[in-house]
This record gives sequence, C-alpha cells and structure tokens, in this order.
Amino acid sequence: MYVCLCHSVTEKQIAEAVDNGASCLDDLSSTLKVADTCGRCRSCARIGLEKLLTESDELHRQMSVREA
Ligand code: FES
Repeated sequence: MYVCLCHSVTEKQIAEAVDNGASCLDDLSSTLKVADTCGRCRSCARIGLEKLLTESDELHRQMSVREA
C-alpha cells in the first residue's frame, strides 16, 4: 500500500528503510522523500514508523531474552 503518493513510497519501502536504520520522519524524508512535497503523508508515515519501531524494539527485546 502506498503511504506517499507524491513519491510513490510504499509501506514495504518504509519498513526496509527502518531495517536500514531510519528512526524518524526526517530519515524517511532524506532517504525516500516522504513528506517532502505536499506533506499529506506526514501523519500516516509517522504512525507507520512508530509502529515499525515499536515492533523492532519488541523483536530485539525478545531476541535478548532468548540469548540470555
Ligand atoms: S503524499 Fe507524501 S509528500 Fe505528498
């Protein structure tokens, strides 16, 4: 599903950017140009980013528990 129509950025591309270290909207803007033009995608991108970062944190926590 597209998040940013101006730059044809999908949820998958945002997830890949997070996997590659993106951790804030500015990171998504500089790498994928999300919210860089009309800005209508800003809130949707922010919500998706927060969800991905929360899931990533939880995964890392679970992996730490398993390794201990
Ligand atoms: S929809 Fe993302 S900048 Fe316009």
